[in-house]
Amino acid sequence: MAKKTTSAKALEETNNVPINIGISEKNAQEVADRLQVILSDEQVLYAKTRNYHWNVEGSSFLEYHKLFETLYTELAESIDEVAERIRKIGHFALGRLQDFLGLARLLEGEYTNNSREQLQNLLDDHETIIRELRKDINDIQDKFKDAGTADFLTGLLKDHERWAWFLRSYIGGKK
Ligand SMILES: [Fe+2]
Repeated sequence: MAKKTTSAKALEETNNVPINIGISEKNAQEVADRLQVILSDEQVLYAKTRNYHWNVEGSSFLEYHKLFETLYTELAESIDEVAERIRKIGHFALGRLQDFLGLARLLEGEYTNNSREQLQNLLDDHETIIRELRKDINDIQDKFKDAGTADFLTGLLKDHERWAWFLRSYIGGKK
C-alpha cells in the first residue's frame, strides 16, 4: 500500500534522486518555501478572478466576463510555471486548497458582483503580489544565489505589472 502523505514535505522522503545544480540544500529549501507562498497567492487570485467572471453584473457584463476569463486563463499558466519551478529546484509543490489557504498572503474577501469593486480588488491583489515579488527576487538573487528562479520571478513580476496596468486602465476610464 502506498505510504500516506500529509503534506508536500512528506513527499520529500520518497525523493531518492540527488540534485546537483549548484544551489545549496539550505538555499534551495528557502527558495522553495518562498515559491510555495507565491503559488498560494496565485491560487487565491485565480479563484477570486473566476468568482468575479461568474458573478459580475451590469451593462458591461460581457466585457468584464471576458476580461476576467483572459486574466484567469493567463494566471493558470503562471501557476503551472511556479509549481514546476519548485520541482526544478528539487522540491515538491503544494497541491491542496487547504495548504494554499494556510500560506497565502492575499485574502479571499467577501462576495461582490459590483464590477468597479471587483476591478479594484483584483488590482490591489496584483499590486500586492508585485511588491512581494520585488522583495523575493532580491533575496533569491542575493541571499540564496538562485539566478534561475530570480529570472523566472522577474518575468512573473512583469506579467503582473501588465495585468495591473489593464485593471488600472479600466478603473481610470470609468470615473
Ligand atoms: Fe466561463
